[in-house]
Amino acid sequence: MTLPGTPFFAMREGVMYAEEVPLPDIAARFGTPCYVYSRAALIERFSACQAALNAHPAGKNSLICYAVKVNSNLAILNLFARLGAGFDIVSGGELKRVLAAGGRADKVMFSGVGKSEAEMELALNAGIFSFNVESAAELERLNRVAGRIGRIAPISLRVNPDVDPKTHPYIATGLKTSKFGVAMNDAPDLYARAVKLPNLAVRGIDCHIGSQITDPLPFAEALERLLDLMEHLEKQGIAIHHLDLGGGFGIPYRMGEAAVSFADFLTPLLDRLQQSGQGCAIVLEPGRSLVGNAGLLLAKVEYLKMGAEKNFAVVDTAMNDLLRPALYGAWHEIVPVSPGGTEAFYDVVGPICESGDFLGQDRKLAISEGDYLAVLSAGAYSFAMSSNYNSRPRAAEIMVDGADAVLIRRRETVEESFALERIHGE
Ligand code: LLP
Repeated sequence: MTLPGTPFFAMREGVMYAEEVPLPDIAARFGTPCYVYSRAALIERFSACQAALNAHPAGKNSLICYAVKVNSNLAILNLFARLGAGFDIVSGGELKRVLAAGGRADKVMFSGVGKSEAEMELALNAGIFSFNVESAAELERLNRVAGRIGRIAPISLRVNPDVDPKTHPYIATGLKTSKFGVAMNDAPDLYARAVKLPNLAVRGIDCHIGSQITDPLPFAEALERLLDLMEHLEKQGIAIHHLDLGGGFGIPYRMGEAAVSFADFLTPLLDRLQQSGQGCAIVLEPGRSLVGNAGLLLAKVEYLKMGAEKNFAVVDTAMNDLLRPALYGAWHEIVPVSPGGTEAFYDVVGPICESGDFLGQDRKLAISEGDYLAVLSAGAYSFAMSSNYNSRPRAAEIMVDGADAVLIRRRETVEESFALERIHGE
């Protein structure tokens, strides 16, 4: 059976494996729920992205800045750092994580609409690669903060190319109505202002049009607008050293769904860039496409609850571990780790007291109580968006490397989840 997106999770003789490790062994050793990542899959994804860039003359001088928000476990950041990645961050916290994981500050891109003065100062002192500035007010603030501490801030403006990425409205970010970036029409004046500010150095142009985009065309449309702006700026004597095209490359979530390769996304962009004669570097901020299919969420069936209208498989994981189905109606394949029992249709639900607490609905599954289920394509925006809702300790994270399974985040204890709280009063 082919599972979506990666050969590193596969069924072998009726049992699902992560690389060389049977998933029931992981469940027995570390307990459930737990996230399981394949190291080989992570390496393969990063290498495929790098190879698509290296294969093209216009991609040689490029930097892949992994979007830390997507999965910020130190082991994953460290792996990408060793493969040569830079990092796209959106908070001071993410910068600290990157540095703690051995990432290089001079390969860090700082995005986000709400950078505080303290975060700017932290990033300037660390010596990051560049700031993606998202408003006129931020431009002025960054200049002020840099001046105060005697630094020059390298910047791009994040422009809003107003293209429709045809994705879920919550994750479309390049439309005119979005809170992100500055309007294309305002960009020339803002760049003119930026070059006058003494503590800023204009380096590039940035955009990020959305996430889980499976059509290469919106990226080409966005690049076209960036090239127009670049030409305009160069006429004004403003040199652009890099174009940051953001992330957003979509992945397969459904069984049998074809993957769009990095080459499918990137080659048309690199062709266009080469044809334009612009020798500037390309920066990418991929997240989901590097980690999404490289992880799964392993859970146990607690109860089977059969009803007249619906059957429920109540599992030991829930929306606090994986919010995407509840928040976006996102589809994750759910596969029994060792199929058995009689087949029936189930809503796979967690123990949380909300009707929206489901992992999947109307799934045909051959399962019994006590069986393990794998919720697939859960490497991206999964653990990273987890919470302690219903006082549920956050799940463990395991990295599989060949025949080894290594704990990269131990399961939280309930006591840890309330350790910061104090009782007040008599
Ligand atoms: N760069 C910027 C500025 C971003 O805002 C994002 C994602 C990325 C890069 C990485 O995009 P990716 O390559 O992963 O598509 N929680 C939602 C997705 C939110 C996307 C936020 N921004 C989900 O679970 O689908």
